[in-house]
Amino acid sequence: MALLVPSLSSTISRLKSLSKPSFHNPLRALKTLQLHYKTSFISSFAALSMSNSNFPKTLIQNPSKSADDLVILGIETSCDDTAAAVVRSSGEILSQVVSSQADLLARYGGVAPKMAEEAHAQVIDRVVQEALDKANVKELDLSAVAVTIGPGLSLCLRVGVQKARKIAGTFNLPIVGIHHMEAHALVARLIERELQFPFMVLLISGGHNLLILACNLGQYLQLGTTIDDAIGEAYDKTAKWLGLDLRRSGGPAIEELAREGDPESVKFAVPMKQHKDCNFSFAGLKTQVRLAIESKNINAEIPISSASSEDRSSRANIAASFQRVAVLHLEERCERAIGWALEIEPSIKYFVVSGGVASNQYVRARLNQVVKKNGLELVCPPPSLCTDNGVMVAWTGIEHFRVGRFDPPPPADEAEDTILDLRPRWPLGEEYEKGKSEARSMRTARMHPSLTSLIQASIQKQS
Ligand code: KG4
Ligand code: ZN
Repeated sequence: MALLVPSLSSTISRLKSLSKPSFHNPLRALKTLQLHYKTSFISSFAALSMSNSNFPKTLIQNPSKSADDLVILGIETSCDDTAAAVVRSSGEILSQVVSSQADLLARYGGVAPKMAEEAHAQVIDRVVQEALDKANVKELDLSAVAVTIGPGLSLCLRVGVQKARKIAGTFNLPIVGIHHMEAHALVARLIERELQFPFMVLLISGGHNLLILACNLGQYLQLGTTIDDAIGEAYDKTAKWLGLDLRRSGGPAIEELAREGDPESVKFAVPMKQHKDCNFSFAGLKTQVRLAIESKNINAEIPISSASSEDRSSRANIAASFQRVAVLHLEERCERAIGWALEIEPSIKYFVVSGGVASNQYVRARLNQVVKKNGLELVCPPPSLCTDNGVMVAWTGIEHFRVGRFDPPPPADEAEDTILDLRPRWPLGEEYEKGKSEARSMRTARMHPSLTSLIQASIQKQS
């Protein structure tokens, strides 16, 4: 079995072999984690160097290149975007290429697992080649290949991982397995070079809502998560029910239409007011939106472009009201999480917001106010680095590679049916004890609904 040592899980497994960290006394726990981290890293790196006499090539053959001149190719295929990028350890983005399946999703309202896999497989070679060409580098110029190994749909992840292993095997390059959500968080360190651990992160995407205290590289404390649907799913469904053009996904369509509407016109309830924790829920808000749409007799079959002006304005009012309440829910949870995080680690200065929904200007502006009011500074990557991309994977690869977390090159002649270490469900860090709510303990973080339906279809097919 070919194992791709995942950067995050290798830390977790090392920590597991030590005493399990308890976050009842968070400050002490944080210091203990840091201490364990240093020792375990040193021993793991020594073992790796000794067992690979000519490896890793950048660190051993050319030590002067190691610290500040890495060039890493990042490959991302966990969801519905096929992406690749080449990034330097100086933070310079040499290239970025994304091929989206949004067209497929808009046309069919969802994609069968095979269809998603095929869409990735059709474009992966072109996307990677374009990333190398635009960066003006050859495979041999690379220091390593980084690739997302989870969370996501196995069939889709496999396409990226196979491509990464092919390149790494052919050109004798180390390989770094990447956690998709960690990559969304860490790309902020490429944008803001002052951003040191510990810092706070809100991740908002199609499948996840996560509030994280990033203690150190590979060490994350989960303060809150989604107990049902993620915010991106709520944006996407609202857009679909309002008959919007989904070709750029639902979020941007709602953001645009909401600018025309009155955000106070429809009285939606803010979710989970009675739960004084940092978890999220968007399923109830989705139902409220659906009922409002039904009560206004809005017909999603009639595209917004053909709607009467009265119909258009009632759709815009719903979009604006939905967005206001969805973001209020984020604001409340973030405010509480900042309080918790500062109790744990008073030195925190930055609050990162990333993931597809973080490309929304209204979301950014509102969260900026909350973060500022609480004495922190907001770091929000530019929209092209908030939605799924290869840069975040390459950059996270650089972060882990620098501290010695990577796998040796796979064999050049690796069999196509080699069993790969793919992680469709992969939590990010430890759960904070105080953050566990009754609702949260009953359910785990949900995946993007398009992925959930793909998995269900795949299970049915296999059975
Ligand atoms: O992080 P991402 O690209 O993929 C996942 O990992 O899920 O996030 C995709 C989600 C989709 O639900 C999409 O509708 C949402 O991000 N999104 C937005 C905006 N742009 C993308 N939501 C609100 N406003 C936007 N401008
Ligand atoms: Zn994502």
